[in-house]
Amino acid sequence: MSKVSYVHFKFLPMSVRVLFTSVLLVFGAAYCMAMLQVWFTKVGLDGKNYLTAKDLVIAYSGNSDGSKMQTALQGPMADMLDADNKKIIYTWLHKGAPKEDFDTTINPILQDHCVACHNTAANPNLPDYTSWEGVQKVTSVDTGMSIATLIRVSHIHLFGLTFIFFITGYIYTHSYVRPALFKCVVLAVPFLGLIVDVASWYLTKVWHGFAWVVIISGALYGIAFTIQWFTSMYQMWFYKPPQELIDSEGQLPSVHRG
Ligand code: HEC
Repeated sequence: MSKVSYVHFKFLPMSVRVLFTSVLLVFGAAYCMAMLQVWFTKVGLDGKNYLTAKDLVIAYSGNSDGSKMQTALQGPMADMLDADNKKIIYTWLHKGAPKEDFDTTINPILQDHCVACHNTAANPNLPDYTSWEGVQKVTSVDTGMSIATLIRVSHIHLFGLTFIFFITGYIYTHSYVRPALFKCVVLAVPFLGLIVDVASWYLTKVWHGFAWVVIISGALYGIAFTIQWFTSMYQMWFYKPPQELIDSEGQLPSVHRG
């Protein structure tokens, strides 16, 4: 008979299981928020209302037939302006965003709908629409996220998700999974997927096909995270351990033991 050489959830004190469960609940909510964040910032950049490889190409490497302003108005800023005004702005952008129309037709729209947030005093990190120079920065051809932005986002992702995957992975190590190789794969995939994902953001700038790698690696670590989450929750509270486990660890402890 094979010896089980880790401690199954059922043999952990109640207090540890409560701790694990609480952490998983918050991480589960956080993961849903992260998915919504992707949805709101990336979906729709290409005009379609679901996530496409083109959305990611536009986000990371830019849109050769559009400006940052157009990209934003089709994506995260879509709700800030009504359709008629959008049309006026798109027409102006496609004419090459000439300065003479700016003062008469464009600037009043921006003043009414955008400047409340887009001014240096309120939000130093956003493009500033109180000046022509600020507007010009987003009306030239969109080259996607700058390397500086990518570096900022990738170091946050690498550090943050490594913590999360380590903690959920560590919790998941207490589950009974056969074959054991499957358990190891589910533990390793999030970290490998994360590295491939982040690398592909940069590589998408070089070759647009990498947008697919971003989608696939993101989906893979999402699946691994989901398997870890549900397996751990289920085995912690509802699972009847197989005889093999009880034999190798002795008596099941009383669930009241804290
Ligand atoms: C309620 C506040 C708010 C209003 C109003 C607003 N924005 Fe934004 N805008 C933001 C925030 C916050 C971001 C950055 C976060 C993001 O990209 O989702 C942003 C980002 C952008 C970007 C992308 C900047 C970049 O460097 O990629 C553009 C372009 C933009 N807005 C244009 C507009 C236009 C045009 C309007 C008016 C029709 C507008 N915004 C109105 C808050 C606002």
